[in-house]
Amino acid sequence: MNDGGADSKRGDATRADSPRADSFARDVRVYAGPEEVAEAAADLLLEAAREAIVARGAFRIALAGGSTPRRLYEILAARATTQETATGAIPVLDAAATIRHSRATRSTARFEAWHVFFGDERFVPADHPDSNYRMAREALLDHVEIPPAQVHRIETDAGTPGEVAARYAATIAREFGLGDRELPRFDLVLLGMGADGHTASLFPGTTALDAGPDEIVVATQVEKLDSWRVTLTFATINAARSVVFVIAGVEKRDAAASVLRGDGTLPAARVHPAYGSLVMFADRDALSSAAMPRARVVLPT
Ligand code: 6PG
Repeated sequence: MNDGGADSKRGDATRADSPRADSFARDVRVYAGPEEVAEAAADLLLEAAREAIVARGAFRIALAGGSTPRRLYEILAARATTQETATGAIPVLDAAATIRHSRATRSTARFEAWHVFFGDERFVPADHPDSNYRMAREALLDHVEIPPAQVHRIETDAGTPGEVAARYAATIAREFGLGDRELPRFDLVLLGMGADGHTASLFPGTTALDAGPDEIVVATQVEKLDSWRVTLTFATINAARSVVFVIAGVEKRDAAASVLRGDGTLPAARVHPAYGSLVMFADRDALSSAAMPRARVVLPT
């Protein structure tokens, strides 16, 4: 996981006025289907977690919402369960199988060092079927040993959208030890993308796209959905060490091709980590190899 660029003295923040790099490592990995996308993204997340925990003692991740990441979260939870088995009582197997089994799980991230945030949230209660927090809780958080104090949901029951956004920004500032005008440097921001090219809750034509360079979180009204959202800003996303898109489904094909052509009218195309890596995992429905000839096309063996 490349992690170039200047860190602030704390290593967890970057100044809001940091110069933006114009180019970024574009790593596009195309897989046969959503299951393979989820498996490959899980591998990358666990490796990023391992590196962050070794380097800084913690892994600070912003989870994506929507439906695509659910399978990824379920796989992460299953890997954790495997790890617990490996460190718990393993059924008596022949020596080789035991070694193989333990080696297979040794690299699994230590979830107790994960600090979980959210890239965005729908303005609904935490137990609402549309809640991104509920989806992540059901698929992952209820199944891994992350201390509750290290899970930071966007508390949509804590006031108006603006108040909730301000509260979440304050939580992030506290957890990252930010000074004035500093942005958090997430180890990894996980993103999905809508058919209209939105990402997180940065929708085309909304005020969230125009957030200031030192705004961490904003509330935004999405007229076409007749709803409010709370979202990380481009500035925060682009300050991350690593940004990972997971995209699947033929309905994403036009937007994915446009984003990779750099069509800045689509919000997802404005994700350019200034000092970080950008990886896009997509399935063949969302990204035909014709759309990105240089993509690494990984087909089932
Ligand atoms: C949300 C997400 C959003 C999502 C896209 C894709 O709250 O809806 O954060 O950005 O990633 O809408 O959603 P699907 O994965 O369901 O296609």
